[in-house]
Amino acid sequence: VSPRTVRVALLGYGCVGSSVDRLLTDRADEIEETTGLRLRVVRALVRDLRKPRPFQPPPGVLTTDFGAICEDASIDVVAEVMGGLTPTEDYFRALLAAGKPVVTANKQLLARRGRELARAAELARLPVRFEAAVCGAVPVVRILCEALPPRSVRRIVGVVNGTTNYLLTRMEHGRALDDALDEARDLGYAESDARDDLNGSDAAAKMALLASTAFGTPASLDQVEFSGIADISPRDLEEARRAGRRVRLVGEAAVDDRAVVVRVAPTELDEHHELARVPAAFNEVALEGDGFGRLTLRGPGAGGPETASAVVGDLLAIAAGRATSHLARLGGAA
Ligand code: NAP
Ligand code: HSE
Repeated sequence: VSPRTVRVALLGYGCVGSSVDRLLTDRADEIEETTGLRLRVVRALVRDLRKPRPFQPPPGVLTTDFGAICEDASIDVVAEVMGGLTPTEDYFRALLAAGKPVVTANKQLLARRGRELARAAELARLPVRFEAAVCGAVPVVRILCEALPPRSVRRIVGVVNGTTNYLLTRMEHGRALDDALDEARDLGYAESDARDDLNGSDAAAKMALLASTAFGTPASLDQVEFSGIADISPRDLEEARRAGRRVRLVGEAAVDDRAVVVRVAPTELDEHHELARVPAAFNEVALEGDGFGRLTLRGPGAGGPETASAVVGDLLAIAAGRATSHLARLGGAA
C-alpha cells in the first residue's frame, strides 16, 4: 500500500519548529512503516529568511507570507510553534476559518485565550491539540484527555518549567544566575523572552492549562497566583543545600466543589522529596484523584527535540484522522 502524504506547515522555524522538521525527516521511514503516513513540511513561516538555521529546509519552504500557508488548500495541518500573542491569535483564527486543524506549543496564548479559541475550533469542527504547550515531551495532556475518566483528578502538583529547574540545580552548585541562563538558552530550554521563565509566568500558564484540562472548569492565567526565582541567589541555594534542603519552582492546582485554586511559587523541600530530585530541565507532574490515587509522570520538560516529539505526536493523531480536540477541554468540555 502506498503511503498517504500529509502536507504540514509550521508557523515558526526556530528551536521547536526546526526540530519538528528534523524529526519528521529523520524518522520518515519509521513513521511511514508504522502509520502509513508520510508527513512532509512544505511551508514554514519565519521573520527573517536569511537567518542561519540549525536544520536547513529545502529551498522554497521558508516564507514570510502567512497567506502562502493559510490560503494554500493543499496544506492538511499546521503546527503553531512561533509563540507570542499577536499576530499569533489572528493567525490561529484564520487557520481555523480556512479549515485547517492546528497543533500548538503556545501556552501563553492558550492560558489567556484558550476558552475563546476552543469556541472557534468547535464552530469550525476542527481538532486542535496542545501537548507541546505543557511539560515538553511528557504526554500529560493526552493522559488527562484520553486515559483518565473526565474530572477524576482533584489535585495536580509538579515542577513544570524546565529552565528554572535547570537554573536552580546549577545555582545550588555556585553557578551565577546569568551564566546558568546563558547555558539554558544555548540548550534551547528558555523562552524567547526568558522573563517568562524567571518570573513564573511560563509555569503559571502551564498550571492553568493543566487545571482547565483536568477539572473541566476553565482557568486562565489571571486566576493564577505566581512568583518566580529571579530574586533567589546561589548563596541562598547553597545554604539550603548544606542544610539538606532544595528550592524548586512548584506548581499546584486543586479543585473543591468546582472552585479551582492554582498557584506557582519557589518552595523549599527536603532533599529527599520527589520534586527535589527532578534533574536538570526535566519536569514532573503528579495527578491525584478518585480511583487511581496518584499517578506520577516525569520526563524532559524543554528543548527543541524533546518538544518536537510532542508536536509530532499530535500531528500524527490529527493526520490519522482519529483526533478528538483536546482544546475543547479549555472551553469547559470534559
Ligand atoms: P524560537 O526559537 O524563538 O522560534 C520562534 C520562531 O517563530 C522563529 O523561527 C521566528 O522566526 C518565528 N516567528 C516569531 N514571531 C514571528 C512572526 N511574527 N512572524 C513570523 N515568524 C515569527 O522559539 P521556540 O523555542 O521554538 O518556541 C516556539 C514556541 O514553542 C513558543 O510558544 C514556546 O513557548 C513554545 N515551546 C518552546 C519550548 C522549548 O523548549 N523551546 C518547549 C515547549 C514549548 P525567525 O527565526 O525568522 O526569527
Ligand atoms: N521555557 C520552557 C521551559 C520551555 O523551560 O519549561 C518548555 O515549555
